[in-house]
Amino acid sequence: MKNYREFDVVILGGGLAGMYTAMNLDRELKIGMFIKDKIDKGSSNLAQGGIAAEIKFDEAKIKEHYEDTLRAGSNLNNKEAVEILVNEAGENIRNLVSMGVNFDKDQNGEFIKTLEGGHRSRRILHAGGDATGESVMRDLRESLKKYTNIDVFEDEMAIQIITDDNNKAIGLVCINNNNEPDYVFTNKIVIATGGCGGVYKNSTNEKFAVGDGIALAYRAGIKIENMEFVQFHPTGLYEPEKRGRVFLISEAVRGEGAILRNIEGQRFMDKYDKERMELAPRDVVSQAIKREMFDTWSDHVYLDIRHKTKDFLMHRFPTIYEKCMSIGVDMSKDLIPVTPIEHFLCGGIASDLCGHTSMEGVYAVGECANTGVHGANRLASNSLLECLVFGKRVADDINASKEELSKRTIKFPPVIGEPRKFNFKSIRVEIRDTMDKYVQIVRTEEGLNLAKKIIERHYKNLKKINVMSRYYFETLNMATVALIIIDAALSRNESIGCHCRLN
Ligand code: SIN
Repeated sequence: MKNYREFDVVILGGGLAGMYTAMNLDRELKIGMFIKDKIDKGSSNLAQGGIAAEIKFDEAKIKEHYEDTLRAGSNLNNKEAVEILVNEAGENIRNLVSMGVNFDKDQNGEFIKTLEGGHRSRRILHAGGDATGESVMRDLRESLKKYTNIDVFEDEMAIQIITDDNNKAIGLVCINNNNEPDYVFTNKIVIATGGCGGVYKNSTNEKFAVGDGIALAYRAGIKIENMEFVQFHPTGLYEPEKRGRVFLISEAVRGEGAILRNIEGQRFMDKYDKERMELAPRDVVSQAIKREMFDTWSDHVYLDIRHKTKDFLMHRFPTIYEKCMSIGVDMSKDLIPVTPIEHFLCGGIASDLCGHTSMEGVYAVGECANTGVHGANRLASNSLLECLVFGKRVADDINASKEELSKRTIKFPPVIGEPRKFNFKSIRVEIRDTMDKYVQIVRTEEGLNLAKKIIERHYKNLKKINVMSRYYFETLNMATVALIIIDAALSRNESIGCHCRLN
């Protein structure tokens, strides 16, 4: 008999979506949170800007948030999902605060709100100045210690969904640090594994964020959608010699008045969006920068916030200020070199308004999910909000299905593969290079087909072998997710939102 664990609910991922869902589940439920890496790593911790939310009930302001979200998403959004997002923002922020999370406040104890691209009002709450994710996640992790019903397992990567004879999910095979299989049985699985920036060479995500949950769902036959909508943040810090994760210069810097200049020092956004200029949504600004870099034979532009005092910048953007200083850039005196960079996946695992996917027993929430709130391009700082609003809805749905939770089926799948020492590095390097080159901000049919040919060859070779190791599954997941993005990009001929097709 193999060893296994049992839980009422299993959450995959330890970012804001997974953690907030877990903390909103009934306390009598036994919850296992399985995290591929460490609980304090991942994109939620890296979020700088903040959480967009109208926290007081003001119908006109909430309507404006709704309209801004649709406008940023080129109206390809699911309108019902957006309505839920903006209407349930306030109660979830209050809930978060009641869980011990702090946001920056002024001398009167009022939340300080900032502005980012695509927003017509200051509605973005932040914490630690420009360290919102780090601060929110630290507060939540502190609070998580009080939840004795939640067990956290780090270094456990889910590689297979186990199903019963009716194709209902009943458990998971995970792989541990020793590359051994661990079996977990449960009635409800919540996939909250985040995005897939790690399939690109340059991204603001950690390298290990390769869309594992999306590939896991895909292997189980779960519907995936809108994967062509990969959002590029306009202002990653330009460090030509740097390898690994790209440091982000938050959009809030533009929200506080920074302007963009090309390498010849000219402000250029008036050529692309006269009305909103630097505060146009991300797809518009990234595509404008790309064009400007092309026209000036350059690979970066500049962000200029020199009109603000050193004191203001050090307090409002402590993390960014320190990082810039570390590479010899004093934001109060120097231009900041920036370049657009892969940042966020707008599509993902198709999920309804309560997070149900196309497989019974499996939910998806956060960046790996496609609720339709983002449409063709996400409005700045709506991502952490999505984690909260839809995380709560997933939790409410599970809380309401207690009877189902009492029945459990145990059925072991066949052994998946042999442990081997292969690290597949050359394949990962080629996938990342290919995605950076051909599946960028601007795409062509020729480039996408070339990318498909290169990555499909790796995918087929990987599928021929069965290896039980994290390296193998990460590499297979990268190839899987990259191919889904490419196929989606090939099948949408029009340019819309962050999917820009030249031909
Ligand atoms: C930023 O601070 O610019 C990123 C926030 C986001 O991705 O919404």
